[in-house]
Amino acid sequence: MKPAKSEVVVITGASAGIGRATAHAFAKQGACIGLLARSREGLEAAQKEVEALGGHALVLPTDVSDPEQVESAAAAVETAFGAIDIWINNAMASILSPFFDIQPEDFRRVTEVTYLGYVYGTMAALKRMKPRNRGAIVQVGSALAYRSIPLQSAYCGAKSAIRGFTDSIRCELLHDNSNIHITMVQMPAVNTPQFGWIKTSMPHQPQPVPPIFQPDVAAEAIVWAAHHQRRELYVGGSTVEAILGTKLAPGLLDRYLAKTGYSSQQTDQPVAPDRPSNLWEPVSHGNYSAHGQFDAQAKDGSLELWVAKNLNWLTLAVGAGVAGIAIGAVLSHRAQQKSSTEDGDQPSESDVRAEVLRQVRQAKGDDRLHLLVGLASLVWKAFNGKPNSEQPSQRFSTEKLKTDG
Ligand SMILES: NC(=O)c1ccc[n+]([C@@H]2O[C@H](COP(=O)([O-])OP(=O)(O)OC[C@H]3O[C@@H](n4cnc5c(N)ncnc54)[C@H](OP(=O)(O)O)[C@@H]3O)[C@@H](O)[C@H]2O)c1
Repeated sequence: MKPAKSEVVVITGASAGIGRATAHAFAKQGACIGLLARSREGLEAAQKEVEALGGHALVLPTDVSDPEQVESAAAAVETAFGAIDIWINNAMASILSPFFDIQPEDFRRVTEVTYLGYVYGTMAALKRMKPRNRGAIVQVGSALAYRSIPLQSAYCGAKSAIRGFTDSIRCELLHDNSNIHITMVQMPAVNTPQFGWIKTSMPHQPQPVPPIFQPDVAAEAIVWAAHHQRRELYVGGSTVEAILGTKLAPGLLDRYLAKTGYSSQQTDQPVAPDRPSNLWEPVSHGNYSAHGQFDAQAKDGSLELWVAKNLNWLTLAVGAGVAGIAIGAVLSHRAQQKSSTEDGDQPSESDVRAEVLRQVRQAKGDDRLHLLVGLASLVWKAFNGKPNSEQPSQRFSTEKLKTDG
């Protein structure tokens, strides 16, 4: 949905990675963007890109762990561009290290940037949005807001805390019948510069846990979330799997991550003794760009994001498709009843699922459309309703559905 007028957008952590890619995406819509981060060098480069893409940008060197700096930046954006429509909390810091080896001041710093930075950003946004009763706040989250992993205790704690305080604010906004929308976008691993500059005590260079997505996919999700009223948005099948997996079998995932989580977060490359980190200061002459060094492995699209964006018509399409199959199954069953007393040829629920799966695969050529299949299965169940004892041929008993579902 393209806005009718130029939107006023604030992005924290806009000098690199997902924040910078998000600035590009809003710039293409002609937005006026307040770019917040610490590195003036990175912000000025982002500003040039925004202007080349058709937007307007204000460079606001800000440390998000300082509420006064965040508040001043918000005021400067409104002076330059007018009322803020969208606020995106995105800036982050992390440490890759076993908890036992993290110093208290470093843990506190990650918390102050990654968690409290979002709190202060949300405060500055709401201070302006509440009197106007409009606006959108997007919290850039992570699958790790639900599923903590080893070596990232400070970051996972902060991401989880963001979800906690955001849920609370959402309830308050609903209580007030507010038009302000607050949402969280849970990201998968993304190819950004963070892996080159987060602090680490590990022997090898940090890396995102595959599958890795390009920051442009994350940016597309953020822009979409800012314009649609979704409570949360999951990007990437790995995010859906991590969140569902931890709800279904958290202990199993603990053990799986204990085995794989150390090696999957490091490359084979040793960490250089003079490797810089951006925990306390921005890295001078760092890789201030949207993409990191994993372009070769990164994916350009997320099926789950596409499904989420198209859910309304997909529900209709899949519903219509399954209705067709259901009607076909009923008609063929009736025809069989007429011609034979045997009921061995009726399609079972698994036959129908297999047929839907086959059709969906043919249409899209991707076997990760489990969401569609799940939807189709749900629609099928809805169509069948409760088992009817007057139909002796009814195979899909509630018991079977419970065990399958
Ligand atoms: N990359 C992933 O795999 C991944 C996965 C899931 C979720 N996410 C989420 O995506 C968001 C962006 O991550 P990213 O990978 O793009 O990180 P990134 O490449 O390291 O970029 C981080 C941004 O935050 C800024 N920043 C760091 N400390 C700051 C501070 N104290 N004050 C203000 N700005 C600060 C950095 O700029 P300066 O150094 O100039 O301040 C930079 O612009 C984060 O919320 C992260 O949790 C990322």
